[in-house]
Amino acid sequence: MTDKLLISASGPLRGTVSVNGAKNAALPIMAACLLTDEPSVIENVPQVTDVLTMAEMLRRLGVEVSFAGDRATLRPGGTPGTEAPYELVSRMRASICVLGPLLAKHGRARVSMPGGCVIGARPIDLHLKGLQALGARITVEHGDLVARGSPLRGARVHLGGAFGSSVLGTANVMTAGVLAEGVTVIEHAACEPEIVDLAAMLSAMGARIEGQGSPVIRIEGVPRLRGARHRIIPDRIEAGTLMMAAALAGGEVRVEGARAEHLGAVIDKLSEAGAQISKLNGALRVQAKGRPQAVDVTTLPFPGFPTDLQAQMMALMAVSRGVSVLTEQVYPERFMHIAELCRMGASIAREGASAVVKGMTRLSGARVTAPDLRASAALILAGMAADNQTEVTGLEHLERGYQGLEGRLTRLGAKIRRVSDAAAP
Ligand code: EPU
Repeated sequence: MTDKLLISASGPLRGTVSVNGAKNAALPIMAACLLTDEPSVIENVPQVTDVLTMAEMLRRLGVEVSFAGDRATLRPGGTPGTEAPYELVSRMRASICVLGPLLAKHGRARVSMPGGCVIGARPIDLHLKGLQALGARITVEHGDLVARGSPLRGARVHLGGAFGSSVLGTANVMTAGVLAEGVTVIEHAACEPEIVDLAAMLSAMGARIEGQGSPVIRIEGVPRLRGARHRIIPDRIEAGTLMMAAALAGGEVRVEGARAEHLGAVIDKLSEAGAQISKLNGALRVQAKGRPQAVDVTTLPFPGFPTDLQAQMMALMAVSRGVSVLTEQVYPERFMHIAELCRMGASIAREGASAVVKGMTRLSGARVTAPDLRASAALILAGMAADNQTEVTGLEHLERGYQGLEGRLTRLGAKIRRVSDAAAP
């Protein structure tokens, strides 16, 4: 039985919506619990399938994981495993973030090589370079990465690649460095808020880390870490998606938990598109009227415009006044949504790593299939600005990273209905 969403032209949106915890902070933070023998409690964990996949992975590695609402309790103590199998890694690339903690704690790890995915090739050379600098010996055997190295030794490592820094590469080297002997310095580290949140968790576990949030992170290794209690930051991508929904459909929406310091580039571009964004106590308010103005956007590592909001921004551009240019500098192949948006009447021409979007007054409702997680949100937004009905399938992508997105948009006034194929006429 597969679900689909039926979306009708919607707006204006009105009301308050609160942001869940950040999936991309929760995943490496859950993996970091492998670094200790003591239990940890993580709060504000989003209930999305990627989190469940990570929980399944950790159980295979000997951690007892239980959820009570948005609180996860992780108790290491079973027979510790060191092997991350293909069926889980192939389901979720972020499984790679168990590599650093396993290696640091047990001196060895076997993690299935993540393949490419629809958003591009997604290599892991920077992860390996960083871990090798700490003394790990890494080989590829039968499709698995086999890493050995005990003890790891702190080192200076430069983690810049052709497309800038690597978020999970930085996470892997940080989680290895915290238990390495001596000092590790990561240059060209990712500055994303999710890395700062991981550092907060590791520090609560007893790690010594400085410079998180800047391109140079310094870690002084400690012999052991303890369990910790930590609250995950609000999801800036979910916040940005909700803000874009309001900018596209018009109205007035208060996005509770959205942090201006995490969303600078998004606030800047939505303001340029004509939305009024105000910083309130613990929230951002978006007010918008009429069609957005065309804007040019380039995705970049933080604090630049996030690639994870590129598809949603393209939906907004598709109904803006004028011509917008969207350039993807993080994943130059992340354009699977263009074809689906064009099925809805959007006028988008791809030129290498850029898309030229000519805004239309309205889109036209169609049957579309979500090709990946962020594209699924983009298609929902596009459906809200389309005549007649839009039918979105491929919702397994949406559920990987958004908790109840359509219900929350519906409460703001969007016309979205979930039906299962079995219930469809
Ligand atoms: N790259 C390399 N070598 C590496 C690693 C990355 O060349 O060893 C390249 C990538 O191909 C890409 C760029 O560096 O061009 C940045 O990739 P990064 O490593 O930062 O991506 P990631 O850490 O694997 C995380 C998020 C992604 C998000 C990117 C970029 C998690 C679980 N995933 O992936 O989130 O797009 O950072 O911000 O944190 C999503 O949530 O939809 C999603 C895909």
